[in-house]
Amino acid sequence: MREQMRNPRRTHRAAPALAIAVAALLATAVNACAQETVQVASPDGRNVVTVGTQDGGLFYSVERDGRKIILPSRLGFEFRDAPPLGEGVELTETERSTVDETWEQPWGEVARVHDHHNELRVSVAESAESDRRFDVVFRVFDDGLGFRYEFPEQPALASFAITEELTEFYLANDARAWWIEADDVTHRYELLYSSSPVSTLPTVHTPLTMETHDGVFVVIHEANLVDYAGMNLTGSRDRRLNVSLTAWADGVKVYGETPFVTPWRTIELADRAEDLVPAVLGLNLNPPNALDDVSWIEPMKYVGIWWGMHTGKYTWASGPRHGATTENTRQYIDFAAENGFGGVLVEGWNVGWDGNWIENAELFSFTEPYPDYDLEGLAAYAQERGVGLIGHHETSMGVENYERQLEDAFALLSRLGIRAVKTGYVGDKTAEGHAHHGQYMVRHWRKVLEVAARNGVMVNAHEPIKDTGERRTYPNMMTREGARGQEYNAWARDGGNPPEHETILFFTRTLPGPLDFTPGVFDILIESGIGGPRPPETPRVRTTLAKQLALYVVLYSPLQMAADLVENYEGQPAFQFIRDVPVDWERTEVLDARIGDYVVVARQERGGPDWFIGAITDEEGRTLEIPLSFLPEGKGFVAEIYADGEGAHWLNDPFPIAISQRPVDAGTTLTFALAPGGGQAIRLRAAE
Ligand code: NOJ
Repeated sequence: MREQMRNPRRTHRAAPALAIAVAALLATAVNACAQETVQVASPDGRNVVTVGTQDGGLFYSVERDGRKIILPSRLGFEFRDAPPLGEGVELTETERSTVDETWEQPWGEVARVHDHHNELRVSVAESAESDRRFDVVFRVFDDGLGFRYEFPEQPALASFAITEELTEFYLANDARAWWIEADDVTHRYELLYSSSPVSTLPTVHTPLTMETHDGVFVVIHEANLVDYAGMNLTGSRDRRLNVSLTAWADGVKVYGETPFVTPWRTIELADRAEDLVPAVLGLNLNPPNALDDVSWIEPMKYVGIWWGMHTGKYTWASGPRHGATTENTRQYIDFAAENGFGGVLVEGWNVGWDGNWIENAELFSFTEPYPDYDLEGLAAYAQERGVGLIGHHETSMGVENYERQLEDAFALLSRLGIRAVKTGYVGDKTAEGHAHHGQYMVRHWRKVLEVAARNGVMVNAHEPIKDTGERRTYPNMMTREGARGQEYNAWARDGGNPPEHETILFFTRTLPGPLDFTPGVFDILIESGIGGPRPPETPRVRTTLAKQLALYVVLYSPLQMAADLVENYEGQPAFQFIRDVPVDWERTEVLDARIGDYVVVARQERGGPDWFIGAITDEEGRTLEIPLSFLPEGKGFVAEIYADGEGAHWLNDPFPIAISQRPVDAGTTLTFALAPGGGQAIRLRAAE
């Protein structure tokens, strides 16, 4: 094996002013033939990856501070019509490099991201006659690591069909895991989280967040999923998690041709739950911005003709309760203009919703409005009032129907100046039988992003593929669902999301990126729906009012909805917080947290001095003392506090809210008294 030192590769187009010198590397050329393993450590030396062969099989392992995190775990593949890859191999060459630079996000939970990692590229060849070759590339950061497989072009591996990826994560510790079961057909990640030891896991989705018994936080996920199948993890009693990819309709997992690279498999590592956020590991493993001009991409808050359909006040379908009428939309545009919202989402505007819209996916038109919806006139009226319509493309998984209309649909949005679209994929499989999270759909979502970017449209995807950091390359990929969102509080048969739900989402689903959770329901008991057929256990929002406000800070989204019917905000002093809260952040700091129990997060507005704090708790009330030491020294702020009021309780009395103001500075410690299922939202307004 040959060990080489390479010029440090710049994998990022860093903003020139921000680029920090690329550090030199320390690799000594060695005759590595005698070595069975090679190692690479993070810049701070704490995370160490070992790669090697054992009995001819390829493996890797991970340690942090000398403690084992991942025991020797297998790497490799199984193919249709070809022998497996990963056994009977030898390491032929290694190459090292280091990157140390800072790049700027056009928008995000932080403005600047530091990418400092050591890379080790290990070239592997089969010793047998077939002589297939591939590289495994490891990038090790202070906050974790990523690795991926790269297949160079070669006659012995030209085009291929992967039937399984053999990557394994053999956990050293029977850590506690927070998980949702992987079901690629029906749930679309919309499940409540369970927590149990790793040794008890079924097949689960990623990100998979774990806490070891000796207090290390470990999150397994993936980054830069572009032309591959989504990765699930299958548990076993001995703590091995095996990759199980989502299949095509014919059972194959991934079709490809060399040269080919897989997504990164990522392992985030932290000493405290608080340090898991902001999670930028995956962003650092995605290619830089591919769009030349991003000036049209603007985070914003929005309202919409939406909640009314979920509560039964309106219908998507045409008829007497049709929500998407010209009159209703004008009312929402006026409300948005008067309250500083950037967008108005209108669902049910287009032909195709009548009858069973989930089964009749092929009937959706993405260009033809219903006759009572004056699309052109409303787009013009919205622009006149300084607001944008947000388009809606529900496909019901009729992806083939959507793709046939894709160019026309986005050309229409572009012509009307509609700068954002919400897409939707309700339904089990595509017309051709492909699952939500397989390679077919992953390709589809990327295609939509590209067409949207070409037409100057931002995307908010519902029933999406999980977030693997594509917003770095396509900053028009704003936000997505991929979780049990607020809508379950309108109709879920189990009565809605339990109070702990968002305290888990913060450390699982939202680690890699934004969530369109749609907070801000003030009519917590949902009394303004018309009733309609309601499930047996009447659903409702299971939070206090103050917690609805806190979610704007806790659950990051650059497109952030005020979800309720606009009339429910009238005369509500608490609405001021939603008007004030930004959607783009300079910095993010988790001040205190316990996964599944509570979260207190502070974020500084992008390009401004104000900070905002969101604190949420599960069904337990609790009092927290929070020092404001993150504020700049010597600067005064006015804290505008929206706290749970006297007697507030998510179940018995969710409405009391105490709004107050007090001067604070970096030396202040604030007491947060959170009601059961409650929360607190604070604007820290820089004093003049
Ligand atoms: C499910 C989405 O999550 C929801 O927001 C939307 O209203 C419906 N699909 C209809 O598209």
